[in-house]
Order: sequence, then structure tokens, then C-alpha cells
Amino acid sequence: MPMLLLLLLTTLVHLNSSTPPPEPVTCRNDETFNCTVTNAYGSFPDSSICHAANVTYPSTEQELISAVAAASAAKRKVKVATRYSHSIPKLVCPGGTDGTIISTIRLNRTVQIDTEKQIMTVESGMVLADLLQVAHEAGLSLAVSPYWYGLTIGGLLASQVGLTKL
Ligand SMILES: Cc1cc2nc3c(=O)[nH]c(=O)nc-3n(C[C@H](O)[C@H](O)[C@H](O)COP(=O)(O)OP(=O)(O)OC[C@H]3O[C@@H](n4cnc5c(N)ncnc54)[C@H](O)[C@@H]3O)c2cc1C
Ligand SMILES: *[C@@H]1O[C@H](CO)[C@@H](O)[C@H](O)[C@H]1NC(C)=O
Ligand SMILES: *[C@@H]1O[C@H](CO)[C@@H](O)[C@H](O)[C@H]1NC(C)=O
Ligand SMILES: *[C@@H]1O[C@H](CO)[C@@H](O)[C@H](O)[C@H]1NC(C)=O
Repeated sequence: MPMLLLLLLTTLVHLNSSTPPPEPVTCRNDETFNCTVTNAYGSFPDSSICHAANVTYPSTEQELISAVAAASAAKRKVKVATRYSHSIPKLVCPGGTDGTIISTIRLNRTVQIDTEKQIMTVESGMVLADLLQVAHEAGLSLAVSPYWYGLTIGGLLASQVGLTKL
């Protein structure tokens, strides 16, 4: 019984911790090939995780273009993974085992802020929490926004049609 209680307590403590979900792409031996892809929940509705041949982490527009060009030349399917890949459906899966994942995790900088026109240009992997912070520092704020800080701007625009007028 004390053992069970301890177990329960550990579980509660675990549930209580506010550690963010792990990165959705992991590859064998911490390399960038032979990878699995999942979402923030650790599995898709059919209890599966997906596979991909390799992953790239571009941190500049030039690296992003090169990654797309290489995948296109190799005729590989490409999907985009974000910081947490929050979407429940298997949107991030390239299908089969020979697709390529491009992660936007390192594409998270502010490109330009025009306070006059109230327009911010940011890279698509920036998460909402960072966007709100940068906006705040520039004296701006969002008129509408979803509640979860871990969403990326690219993911939002790809899945939340109603917000594209931001
Ligand atoms: C439990 C739960 C509750 C939710 N509640 C709400 C809610 O209350 N309100 C709400 O509005 N939404 C809600 N959602 C939906 C959620 O907000 C969306 O799934 C979210 O917008 C995804 O953002 P993300 O950055 O994690 O993108 P991802 O899920 O990683 O990506 C979404 C899609 O966009 C593609 N993509 C991402 N970035 C790019 C890019 N730069 N270029 C091209 N393609 C790209 C991805 O490949 C994927 O196909 C909820 C979802 C869940 C699971
Ligand atoms: C990926 O790893 C699995 C074992 O985890 C192995 O069976 C498979 O052959 C590997 N695929 C490639 C393309 O290396
Ligand atoms: C991923 O695989 C494709 C096809 O083999 C290749 O062109 C590309 O360079 C690879 N990318 C990485 C980061 O290994
Ligand atoms: C970009 O992401 C990295 C890694 O998560 C983080 O350390 C950094 O603060 C982020 N940069 C910006 C400008 O948000």
C-alpha cells in the first residue's frame, strides 16, 4: 500500500510538472536520419507514430531553400515539423518511411517590426509566447490569439484559417 501511494504520488507530481512536451522528431542515435515523428501527445489518433528517412533543421532562409531543393531533387515527400507539432491529426507525417522532415525549430527570429503600420514579420517557427513578448516590447499586441503558447506562427497559419487576417 505505501508503495502504491508512493507510485500515485510520483504520478501526480509528474502530471503536475509543467515541463513542455518533447521535440516531435527523434532520430536513431541522435543523428538526422532514420527518424520517427509524432505530435505533442506522443501518438496519433490511431496510436501510431510516423517514420521519415531524415530531418533538417534550417536556421536561415538559404538553408531552408537548400533543404527544399535537395528533397525535391531526390523526389522525396516533405512535411514540416514545428517546436511541438500540436496538431492531433497526422498532418506532419510524410507517409511511408522515405520522406523528409523540415523542422522550423531554429527558424524563430523576428525579421522586421513596423510599429507605424502595426506589422510584424517573423520566421515561421517562432512560438506564440516569443511573438507576444516581442510584440509587447515593441508596444504592440495581438487582437486575437489562441491560448497555447507553444504554437508556432507557421502552424497557426497552416491550420487556423480564421486567424490569417492577423
Ligand atoms: C487538445 C487541443 C486543443 C486545441 N485547442 C484549440 C483551441 O482552443 N483553439 C484553437 O484555435 N486551436 C486549438 N487546437 C488546434 C491547434 O491550435 C493547432 O493544431 C495549431 O494551430 C497547430 O500549431 P503548431 O504550431 O503546433 O503546428 P503543427 O501542428 O506542427 O502544424 C500544423 C500543420 O501545418 C504545417 N506547417 C507548420 N508550419 C509550417 C510552415 N512553416 N510551412 C508549411 N507548413 C507548415 C505542419 O506540417 C502541419 O501540417 C487544439 C489542438 C489540440 C490538440
Ligand atoms: C532504421 O532503424 C531500424 C531499427 O530501428 C532498422 O530496422 C531500419 O533498417 C533502419 N532504416 C534505415 C533506412 O536505416
Ligand atoms: C535527406 O535525404 C535526401 C534523399 O536521400 C537527400 O537528398 C538529403 O540531402 C537528405 N538530407 C539530409 C539532411 O540528410
Ligand atoms: C529560439 O528558440 C531557441 C531554442 O528554443 C530559444 O533559446 C531562443 O530564445 C528563441 N529565440 C527567439 C528570438 O525567440
